[in-house]
Amino acid sequence: MKRALTPGTFDPITSGHLDVITRASQMFDEVVVAVAESPKKKPLFSLEERVSLVEQATAHLSNVRAVPFCGLLVDFADQMEATVLVKGLRAITDFELEATVLVKGLRAITDFEYEFQMTALNYQLHPDLETIFIMSPPQYMYLSSSIVREISSLHGDIKQFVPECVRVALEKKFA
Ligand code: PNS
Repeated sequence: MKRALTPGTFDPITSGHLDVITRASQMFDEVVVAVAESPKKKPLFSLEERVSLVEQATAHLSNVRAVPFCGLLVDFADQMEATVLVKGLRAITDFELEATVLVKGLRAITDFEYEFQMTALNYQLHPDLETIFIMSPPQYMYLSSSIVREISSLHGDIKQFVPECVRVALEKKFA
């Protein structure tokens, strides 16, 4: 059973994220979308809203689920392993969250420095946790949640950049 973790802030999930998650879902038995609290980024959407949007956007992918997390990503992976030992029915769910692979999307050059830094540090913090990168296709190379939020805040058309549920949620936020 190969299980992958796709971490991010997902504020909100974009079509680029969904592309990476979909590719990962074809490569792994199960994909856990790890939605970070990311308080420093002061997200537009609450953690619950971001998880809910990921759930709606990935509803058609039977081996994908969204889980919120706070604190260090490597601790989240470890925490999931620890709950296996001590919890009841809930632990059966948690057991399935045991993740040994991180899957990240890579867009253009701008991503490299940041992703290299996080990967290098995560390797030092947790040498057993592997990170692999999936390259974004051209149409998503320059897509980001922040750009989508900006276009939407200025009442631009974001239909081609986000899943339908996110378009509706963003239009509501900026109405
Ligand atoms: O979508 P983002 O905001 O680029 O995702 C970044 C994320 C959430 C994956 C990263 O900030 C993260 O792993 N946050 C959890 C805290 C952590 O582990 N920080 C140390 C990284 S070396």
